[in-house]
Amino acid sequence: MAHKRIYLAPSILSADFTRLGEQVREIEQNGASLLHIDVMDGRFVPNITMGPLVVEAVRRITQMTLDVHLMIVEPERYVEAFAQAGAGIISVHLEASPNLHRTLEIIRDAGCKVGVAINPHTTADSLRDVMGMIDVVNVMTVNPGFGGQSFLHSMMPKIARLRAMAGDIQRDIEIEVDGGINAETAQAAVQAGATILVAGTAIFGHPKGISAGFAQMTSAIVGED
Ligand code: DX5
Ligand code: ZN
Repeated sequence: MAHKRIYLAPSILSADFTRLGEQVREIEQNGASLLHIDVMDGRFVPNITMGPLVVEAVRRITQMTLDVHLMIVEPERYVEAFAQAGAGIISVHLEASPNLHRTLEIIRDAGCKVGVAINPHTTADSLRDVMGMIDVVNVMTVNPGFGGQSFLHSMMPKIARLRAMAGDIQRDIEIEVDGGINAETAQAAVQAGATILVAGTAIFGHPKGISAGFAQMTSAIVGED
């Protein structure tokens, strides 16, 4: 596990949408290479957020890889639209995808990195038969739908299990954690083997501003690698 690079993926769910462009630029200036975009449909999760229009707008002002997290039913219907809008990684929920294998092929064929997100109640082993197709597994550390929830420490053993499953097929995958990540919980996630840390509130909601939030998160993960 050691020696793998750790990425921060700030989530614009907690951004000030009246100043989205400015805030995305500030994130990039701080050195981020990933930007997390939470798409919610009011059906898979209770909340409704944004669609391809926002991805396309953000794409025009940044070089960062757009990490699009689809919390929507029938995600296969929208993969092409998000790929066209400029997504670099598209993650769908296992729980929302009865034909997950086919959905992952659609993502791959659209030219994006293939991601699967799993809710807290879903086991790592549920992914065993599609592990060879996956670039990124998003281990949800809250129940999806809202920013600002508390980190579920009980999800940490899933990370080691996923790493072992990927190792069994000689596959290098990124393991992302999403929900409740702050300076303290980031350390637990990195120690468990996570390589992408999503953070919304801790960065965009930091009382001293985005750059202070980003710096605090960066220093929390340095030395944990
Ligand atoms: C929750 C989303 C998260 C959210 C995390 O359903 O998937 O990406 O932005 O927000 P924080 O970091 O505030 O828990
Ligand atoms: Zn997310």
